[in-house]
Amino acid sequence: MATGQEPTEAFRLNLAGRVVLVTGAASGIGRATALACGRAGAAVAVNHIGRAAEAQAVVAQLTAIGASAKAFEADVTRPAATTAMVREVEEAFGPIDGLVNNAGILQEKPFLDTTEADWDRMLDTDLKSVFLMCKAVLPGMVSRDTGVIVNIASDLGVLGRAQFAPYCAAKAGVIGLTRSLAREFAPNIRVNAIAPGAVSTAMVSTEHMSPEWIAKELDIPQHRFGEPDEIAATVLFLLSDLSRFYCGQLLSPNGGSLMS
Ligand SMILES: NC(=O)c1ccc[n+]([C@@H]2O[C@H](COP(=O)([O-])OP(=O)(O)OC[C@H]3O[C@@H](n4cnc5c(N)ncnc54)[C@H](O)[C@@H]3O)[C@@H](O)[C@H]2O)c1
Repeated sequence: MATGQEPTEAFRLNLAGRVVLVTGAASGIGRATALACGRAGAAVAVNHIGRAAEAQAVVAQLTAIGASAKAFEADVTRPAATTAMVREVEEAFGPIDGLVNNAGILQEKPFLDTTEADWDRMLDTDLKSVFLMCKAVLPGMVSRDTGVIVNIASDLGVLGRAQFAPYCAAKAGVIGLTRSLAREFAPNIRVNAIAPGAVSTAMVSTEHMSPEWIAKELDIPQHRFGEPDEIAATVLFLLSDLSRFYCGQLLSPNGGSLMS
C-alpha cells in the first residue's frame, strides 16, 4: 500500500537541525550515543549526574567535530530536576526533537538479600526516571506534533536473570512503558526501546560483576560483549527518519542472547 510519502533527501540517517537530549551521557552507551548524534548533525544535550569533567570531555569532543553541545547536570530520578533540565535545554538549543532515556544503574544481589531500599533505588533510577523524562518532554512534542523517544531497556528485561530481580523488573517496566506511550502518542511521536545484551562499559566491569555473571553473559552465539558504539548505532537509527515506520518496537543488539 502506498504511504503517500515518497523517498526524499530527508529519508536518510541525518539528524541535522535536530536537538537530542541523552541522559547519563558522561560514560558508556550514553557517551557513545551523544557522540554518534553529534556526528549525524544534531545539537546534543549531555545529561550527567556528578560527572562534570567526563560530561565536559564529551562536549569538547562534540564541539571539536563542529556539533553544538552542552552539559546539563540533573538527577533524572527527581521531578523538579527533570523539568528544569528540559527547560534549560530548550532555552539553549530550542525544542527537543529526540530524547534518549539511557541513565541507569545495575546491581547483582541475591533476591533474599535485596532490601526495599535496593528495590526503590533501582526502580527510581531505571524506570521512574523514564516516566519523569517522558512527562517532561512530551507536552512540547505533543504541541509540535513531532518527536522521537528511545528508551534503553535490556535483554534481561525480557529474559530475567537470577541475582538481578529489581533490574530485570525495572527494564521489563521500561518495555511496557515504551509500548504504552507508543500507542498513546502515535502517529507522529514515535517511542521505541532497545534491549542490549552485555556491553563493555563500567557498569559490567569485572570489578562490579561476578565471574559467574560474566561467564553467563559470554555464553551467547557471538561469545563477546558488545561495544557502546554498536548500541549507539541502533539508537541513531531509531532517532532518524529511517525508522519512521517503527512504533513501540524493541530492537535487540545483543550478539544473539535474545532472539525475537
Ligand atoms: N552495559 C551493559 O551491559 C548494558 C546492557 C543492557 C542495558 N544497559 C543499559 O544501558 C544504559 C547505559 O549503561 P552503561 O552500560 O553505559 O553504563 P554506565 O554506568 O557507563 O552509564 C550509566 C550512566 O547513567 C548515569 N546515571 C545513573 N544514575 C543517574 C541519575 N539519577 N541521573 C542522571 N544520570 C544517572 C551514570 O552516571 C552513568 O553515566 C543503562 O540504562 C543500562 O541499564 C547496559
